[in-house]
Amino acid sequence: LDEKIWLTLSFGLIIGFMLITGYQAYAFGMGPPSHKETIDPQKVDETAPFDNPGVRKIGENEYEVVMTLQIFSFTPADIEIPEGATVHFILTSKDVVHGFQIADTNVNAMVMPGHVQKITQKFDKPGSYLVLCNEYCGAGHQVMSTTITVN
Ligand code: CUA
Repeated sequence: LDEKIWLTLSFGLIIGFMLITGYQAYAFGMGPPSHKETIDPQKVDETAPFDNPGVRKIGENEYEVVMTLQIFSFTPADIEIPEGATVHFILTSKDVVHGFQIADTNVNAMVMPGHVQKITQKFDKPGSYLVLCNEYCGAGHQVMSTTITVN
């Protein structure tokens, strides 16, 4: 009899955990948030918002930067934003896996073809911030960089 009780209890626990896990997956939309939005890497140029990359003001010192990464460049390159701006980066790759690292900040992300990567960063200090690809992406990897100028 004891064994049956234990068996029933552990079975119940397993069902319970499965329900909790299932609920969490449902509640948080399956998988890590950075991988949630997908895009056809062959059609980046035709898919909003990447059909119109650039810097857009969306609020009081708040900007949206829609950017594509491709061997071996960032589009748009050499962007400028005002001091204190909060910038929402929306990134994707048009070919292979690239990196998006902004020197002197905590921004350090992978940008993968087929995925939309979103990062928000506030730029309090004026200056020129070096943006580097930190994932090996081919022969020109070392020269894949740009700058963000904060005025
Ligand atoms: Cu792109 Cu390394």
